[in-house]
Amino acid sequence: MTEHEQLTELCRRLGAEPASAAVMAAQLQKRADQMAAERGVTRVAAMEYLLGVMMQARRGETPAADAPGRPPLSMREKLLTLFHATFGRSPAVITRAPGRIEFIGNHTDYNGGTVLGAAIDRGVWVALAPRADGVRRFASEQQAGVVTQGAGTLKKADGDEAWINYPLGVLAALPEFGLKAPAGFDFYAVSDLPSGAGLSSSAAIELASALAFLELTGQRPARETVVKIGRHAENHFVGVPCGILDQGVSGFGQKDRLVFIDCRGPRFDTVPLPAGAQFWIFNTHTKHALVDGLYAARHRECMAAAQALGVDLLVAATPAMLESARGELPPETHRRAKHVIEEIARVDACVAALRAGDLPAAGRLLTASHRSSQALFENSTPELDFLVDELVRAPGVHGARLTGGGFGGAVMALTAPEFTREQAARVAAAYREKHGQEPDVLHTRTGDGAAVVQSSAPICEK
Ligand code: GLA
Repeated sequence: MTEHEQLTELCRRLGAEPASAAVMAAQLQKRADQMAAERGVTRVAAMEYLLGVMMQARRGETPAADAPGRPPLSMREKLLTLFHATFGRSPAVITRAPGRIEFIGNHTDYNGGTVLGAAIDRGVWVALAPRADGVRRFASEQQAGVVTQGAGTLKKADGDEAWINYPLGVLAALPEFGLKAPAGFDFYAVSDLPSGAGLSSSAAIELASALAFLELTGQRPARETVVKIGRHAENHFVGVPCGILDQGVSGFGQKDRLVFIDCRGPRFDTVPLPAGAQFWIFNTHTKHALVDGLYAARHRECMAAAQALGVDLLVAATPAMLESARGELPPETHRRAKHVIEEIARVDACVAALRAGDLPAAGRLLTASHRSSQALFENSTPELDFLVDELVRAPGVHGARLTGGGFGGAVMALTAPEFTREQAARVAAAYREKHGQEPDVLHTRTGDGAAVVQSSAPICEK
């Protein structure tokens, strides 16, 4: 048997449609040749690696990109390999959108306030190829199998398939913005974002999907529209009443800068990150069972507080207004509103501190934000509080806070370079001692916003 025949047989056994197995085998051979030439590894090592990636994906596992003795596979290469292996052809478009850190501005976005976030150097990658029959097929390295939706349907999925609600939500949103949704396609997503770490993989997949669908149909709306499409998908299809933070940061991120959003417009800007600033994420892997319901409840409480104060959104309320209404508001509503009003002031103070290059002052504001979440907004947990307490005692830490919606998830620390991996390991060990589980520690960098990485025009529907 030739190598091509052996590979064809293997692809068949891995579930490829008979017609595509031979094409897939040829593609694998081509990619192994390219990889061996580009990376200076033997062809056997390259082929072994590609086959390993295919098999892991089939088992729903994430390939170890840097496994010893194997060539590191870039996200783009991994995506191409899995796309070929699943659909037996090349994608027409590849896009990428980053995850984000919520730097400061906790639950300020849907209250019309200001917020600062950072796009990070990890994210979601999407590959897309058009289909003439109108059928939409979705696959991801994180789930075995292909999810198929017939021509014309946008049916909300559940269970293991629920991840496709993000691209489906984007498809449903496009016409709302006067844009055209592509008809049939094959879609594959890969990610190097740790899941459940509060780094917003959902906004990343929404923006990567939106850019891919738009590129495939030759439409190039303003970046602000792409961001709004992502949020619309989340609010109206997925059903989470989030603000614009996650999508805005994923869309407007820039390396070495923070994204500033005035959510009322919304208006997007960036602020330079002073040299030496480092980010560490400690993911507790804890998640309140009712996290979505609790987020929605906070949203409702804030809207009720705004109404009681006679404003449309809490951004329009002042500390004086809140103080004079103290007797009329239930104590809980008062606490929620106080958090939001003071948090908006902290964001503005933080922008000033960053522009002055004063990282210690910015750090103190981050920790103050956490204390407010803890006492007033009540979206922290004992696990997150423990990490913040440990971190702010450690050398080189400017400040620490929960990042994202809260009720579990992750803490971020802003540090100087003298906070080392050893110190991070010490904090993780103290956490394990107390809470019995090791948190994931991620030393992350800022990165650029969502982008089309590769596109082969002309494309099916213009
Ligand atoms: C989640 C939401 C954001 C924002 C934060 C809290 O990440 O998606 O819109 O509300 O929580 O600040």
